[in-house]
Amino acid sequence: MSLVPLIPESAPFTAEQRAWLNGFLAGALNRGTARTGLIEGVAAKIPLTIAFGSQSGNAESLAKRLAKEAASRGFAACVAGLDSLQAADLIKHPNLLLITSTWGEGEMPDNAVSFWEQLNQNGSSPVLDGVRYGVLALGDHNYGDTFCLAGKMIDERLAALGAKRLIDRVDCDVDFDEPASAWAAMAWKVFGEGLDKQVAAEPVSKAVEEVDVGWSKKKPFPAALVANVALNAEGSAKDTRHLAFSLEGSGLSYEPGDALGVFARNGPLMVDGIIAAHRLNASAVVPLPDGGEATLREALLGYYECRKFHGVIPDGPTDLTSWVSSLRKLQPRLYSIASSLKAHPNEVHLCVAAVRYEVGGVAHEGVASTFMADRLPIGETTGIFFQVAKHFRLPASEAVPVIMVGPGTGIAPFRAFLEEREATHASGKNWLFYGDQRAETDFLYREQIQGWKESGLLTELDLAFSRDQAEKVYVQHRMIEKGAMLWAWLEEGAHFYVCGDASRMAKDVDAALHEVVQVHGGKSGDEAVAYVAALKKAKRYARDVY
Ligand SMILES: Cc1cc2nc3c(=O)[nH]c(=O)nc-3n(C[C@H](O)[C@H](O)[C@H](O)COP(=O)(O)OP(=O)(O)OC[C@H]3O[C@@H](n4cnc5c(N)ncnc54)[C@H](O)[C@@H]3O)c2cc1C
Ligand SMILES: NC(=O)c1ccc[n+]([C@@H]2O[C@H](COP(=O)([O-])OP(=O)(O)OC[C@H]3O[C@@H](n4cnc5c(N)ncnc54)[C@H](OP(=O)(O)O)[C@@H]3O)[C@@H](O)[C@H]2O)c1
Ligand SMILES: Cc1cc2nc3c(=O)[nH]c(=O)nc-3n(C[C@H](O)[C@H](O)[C@H](O)COP(=O)(O)O)c2cc1C
Repeated sequence: MSLVPLIPESAPFTAEQRAWLNGFLAGALNRGTARTGLIEGVAAKIPLTIAFGSQSGNAESLAKRLAKEAASRGFAACVAGLDSLQAADLIKHPNLLLITSTWGEGEMPDNAVSFWEQLNQNGSSPVLDGVRYGVLALGDHNYGDTFCLAGKMIDERLAALGAKRLIDRVDCDVDFDEPASAWAAMAWKVFGEGLDKQVAAEPVSKAVEEVDVGWSKKKPFPAALVANVALNAEGSAKDTRHLAFSLEGSGLSYEPGDALGVFARNGPLMVDGIIAAHRLNASAVVPLPDGGEATLREALLGYYECRKFHGVIPDGPTDLTSWVSSLRKLQPRLYSIASSLKAHPNEVHLCVAAVRYEVGGVAHEGVASTFMADRLPIGETTGIFFQVAKHFRLPASEAVPVIMVGPGTGIAPFRAFLEEREATHASGKNWLFYGDQRAETDFLYREQIQGWKESGLLTELDLAFSRDQAEKVYVQHRMIEKGAMLWAWLEEGAHFYVCGDASRMAKDVDAALHEVVQVHGGKSGDEAVAYVAALKKAKRYARDVY
């Protein structure tokens, strides 16, 4: 059998790209990293690298799913985390699909940070002529100006470095399945032009498996639940829990500001309800998302997101295997850590609102929050991992004042911050804006917070219980009332933190901050915007909102 490492003239490449690919394939064949050239009578494949920048797994799962689809369509597809790619080596990836989320506040996900830096190295940025690419950006509209920013920046930078954008970027909101599928369909069409006519190349790089450094998202630590305490008093409309997991024997540690990833199982009542309503065979054997098989009931309990079928009674699927394969893999949920290791060695604490609501008379429950609140007995374990949040850290200097705005479960990281400042005897001033519905029933961690005010750890404490009076009173109203002092703290160099609801509270608090700067700093609207932007740039305004 003769191998001819030659890209046919008909292939959709420029002469330059063809020359590069021919050279690359010849080299790869010599090195033994590619084993195909143009083989007479054998259908040829187009190499396609699907790279992902991902923090909590969405872009990663999508990249892996699309790589499978690409392979089934005849591409020689490989998938790679951006941390396993060197920007200078991108030239070896003539067809690149790049999927990235945005994290923090318009930042790269952790595994894309180094790649992004390499793309921006003064004087030594790679030249990417010959690379054809498309970018899919994952994000969330609630983040406003930073919506899909990481994807937008990478897309522009690749073009500026000479790569050829073959398909337009698509920016996806939280429901990314549909736009992602449309983007992929375009990619198959455009990148696949000439499929079966070209030289086949084996994947030029394989996904580099994460180095096994102990427990991780891929290898979660089985942590035992050691406390589950209701934080709301009887009569409350809410069910918020203080949960503690043991880290005994894990060797794991975390910093205040980090989040905990929790793997959960769907509720048996819901799963059995779906099986009954759709007349499914609970013991049929079906594929699992990462390989292997299980009964349908076990697959739905532990491996797939299926809440959208709860309370819905359409016709049952005709092909169980393809229906199950179309479901999203059950994702771990993130929770802001509510403890300091210095105060609670070998433990990690959470403050979790159990999600329960009704639609059309049907009761619904959030998967992970009710798993921890209701279905995980004390002493039983579940998989956990730590999600580092470099953007949400106490100031490096313990003397710097901090202002914390965290209504509801937004209190979580501030309990961690305050425990840390208490344990380290930090001299900096601390100011907490906190609130919830009613003081009587919903003052989470009341004793600890009041104790901190009495001990002086909390220099200032401003409370906003929204439903204790006819008019709603929210944390941002307290900020405005105390505007002069807030401005003075900012001018002293205070760091300003916000945690909790992204869709309403964080936006209103941001507006209140601008108002305080404008009114008490004597600034115009534009100057206030610039002042707040400078705070962000100096990493003195950080948000952990969801
Ligand atoms: C970085 C980060 C930190 C977080 N920290 C915390 C924390 O400290 N404490 C905390 O409690 N949560 C926190 N969350 C939120 C948490 O990750 C989960 O999103 C939350 O617990 C819900 O997950 P679940 O699995 O219980 O619900 P899911 O099964 O994911 O269901 C939630 C979905 O249910 C639907 N839904 C919810 N309420 C209603 C309603 N009233 N009407 C109609 N539909 C509704 C919505 O579609 C919603 O997206 C954090 C999130 C992030 C990203
Ligand atoms: N978009 C949403 O539907 C949404 C938003 C937030 C939270 N949640 C969910 O609700 C559950 C509990 O959340 P949580 O315990 O963290 O509390 P929360 O619902 O965020 O409420 C905490 C406090 O914030 C108040 N609040 C409401 N709107 C506000 C605004 N625009 N600015 C400032 N404060 C505001 C609430 O008042 P009132 O309730 O009296 O208005 C309450 O006093 C979580 O599961 C969360 O996912 C959903
Ligand atoms: C703490 C946090 C910060 C985020 N910041 C942004 C942001 O600044 N802009 C944006 O568009 N999306 C933002 N998102 C939304 C994520 O990009 C989105 O959830 C995405 O699907 C996550 O994909 P991943 O799991 O691959 O990281 C943020 C999400 C979280 C939880």
